[in-house]
Amino acid sequence: MKIAEYIQQMATRLDSANLCYGHGTDNPLDEAFYLIYGLLGIHFADEQAAQRELNAGDEAILEAALKRRIDERVPTAYLVGRAWFAGHEFYCDERALVPRSPLAELINGEFEPLLHEPAGKILDLCTGGGSIGIATALLWPDCEVELADISRDALDLAKKNIALHGLADRVKVIESDLFDTIDSRYDLIVANPPYVSLKDYDDLPAEFVREPALGLISDDAGLQIPLKILRDSVDYLSADGLLVMEVGYSHPQLSKRLKQVPLLWLEFEWGGEGVLALTAGQLQQYREQFN
Ligand SMILES: C[S@@+](CC[C@H](N)C(=O)[O-])C[C@H]1O[C@@H](n2cnc3c(N)ncnc32)[C@H](O)[C@@H]1O
Repeated sequence: MKIAEYIQQMATRLDSANLCYGHGTDNPLDEAFYLIYGLLGIHFADEQAAQRELNAGDEAILEAALKRRIDERVPTAYLVGRAWFAGHEFYCDERALVPRSPLAELINGEFEPLLHEPAGKILDLCTGGGSIGIATALLWPDCEVELADISRDALDLAKKNIALHGLADRVKVIESDLFDTIDSRYDLIVANPPYVSLKDYDDLPAEFVREPALGLISDDAGLQIPLKILRDSVDYLSADGLLVMEVGYSHPQLSKRLKQVPLLWLEFEWGGEGVLALTAGQLQQYREQFN
């Protein structure tokens, strides 16, 4: 069978399996394309590949992966072992969440209109596999980036991604419970922390339960970790530093909790929500509110 034909067939089978998309694609056709090209190591821009015939070995690999995608609800990014974020390729496996933050759009837009020049020293807090910090390092060739996470497993994956992009000289990992072992100041802190309440976690589709719960759940209706980051970031920012943090669909709850704080919620053309930006000055001014 030709790859083009198999893509259509796989998309139909995915479509009838009642799956959840949200780990890199949002429809069965793109998911089939991702699974097939990803597993066969075909470049997504290879226009000739669709006319190639699949051999029996290829089909066996693809059928086994499709079975796991449907029966076990494993996200395609984990089956392929690769994810794309802000236009860059990353290793991706069960040690960290599948990268999918709307921060990709901000990075590709060079953080405009929040910043008008590259930040020198950057912290990616709650980094997981490191995609946000590494994509930022790739954007600005002179910056230094630290990737912090409480999970040693996630940091091992982040180290693989640092090596993949040849960034070992200016991107480092730090094992830390939020800021506990951090002792620098940064021009920019980017964070995509856990922000899902326990109650919401129980209702998530099975694909999300395949990801580490440590990366998703936060107490206090999802707000405990984001509020701690808001409270403490100012101690780790330079005087004109900036915090950019994603709280996703928890943003209405956070706004309600922080009525006195002028939270700036960014808008995204490619979709996604719940990313805020606050300057070091604002974090200091409203610090009391974050307790
Ligand atoms: C939502 S995931 C984000 C991963 C990555 N930044 C991304 O966007 O794909 C949150 C990450 O926070 C980490 N984490 C959870 N609690 C933490 C804590 N107290 N201190 C530091 N990292 C924490 C998890 O291990 C997980 O990797």
